[in-house]
Amino acid sequence: MYESDAQWREVDYFADTLVPEDEALAAARLSGHLTTMPSAEVAPNQGRLLALLAQMAGAKRVLEFGTLAGYSTIWLARAVGEQGHVTTLEVAEPNAAVARVNLERAGVLERVDVVVGPAAASAQRLVDDGAEPFAFVFIDADKPNNPAYLATSLALSAASVACWATSLRIRGWRRPPSRPWARRAGTASRSSVVALDARTHCHRWPTAQGRRGSEPHSPHALVSASAA
Ligand SMILES: C[S@@+](CC[C@H](N)C(=O)[O-])C[C@H]1O[C@@H](n2cnc3c(N)ncnc32)[C@H](O)[C@@H]1O
Repeated sequence: MYESDAQWREVDYFADTLVPEDEALAAARLSGHLTTMPSAEVAPNQGRLLALLAQMAGAKRVLEFGTLAGYSTIWLARAVGEQGHVTTLEVAEPNAAVARVNLERAGVLERVDVVVGPAAASAQRLVDDGAEPFAFVFIDADKPNNPAYLATSLALSAASVACWATSLRIRGWRRPPSRPWARRAGTASRSSVVALDARTHCHRWPTAQGRRGSEPHSPHALVSASAA
């Protein structure tokens, strides 16, 4: 667990003020210790941003790589609304089991499919089965597979997709050498170099994952892309 810098804790102060968690979200976050990756969920402010982005994209169908305890899944499932649908891909059944309990408590289990298995294979199966297009994708599973997940996400969207990937390394990005957190993030994503093609527009930024998360300055990339 990191002790985050004072300036990032100040960001957390605003997050606490602007992003109230209800009981179901707090319970999902706290249940992280029952999973294979405790404290690896997005922070509340990131969950809120994910939901806002999905809503701004008008997404009714969302795809997520990496479920864990379902914390980000709850934010996304609420964003798509009662008529919407979230498909979330998770390799570890014990994590999926924890997530299902959390999703049920949050009242969104009916609009979520938790698909257990390696995400690359699960996503390819969606392609092969001709799944309906997804308008928003959140990539937050094993980082070395980020480029493959991004490519499959493009194949799974009809016209355009807004895609948020954690620790996505963009060609040309250089980490500040003085920052240990950046070194860590760089290591996590070393094999995730993405050569963005003409279809994509990318913005990459560090976010405060805050005192609750294990990566206080996890770098994120927002990719908007045309699939055509
Ligand atoms: C960072 S956690 C996801 C956190 C979650 N998105 C949240 O914010 O609440 C990463 C998850 O990806 C899963 N994972 C790792 N490798 C995977 C793979 N190859 N396929 C599917 N899921 C994988 C891990 O088991 C873990 O649950």
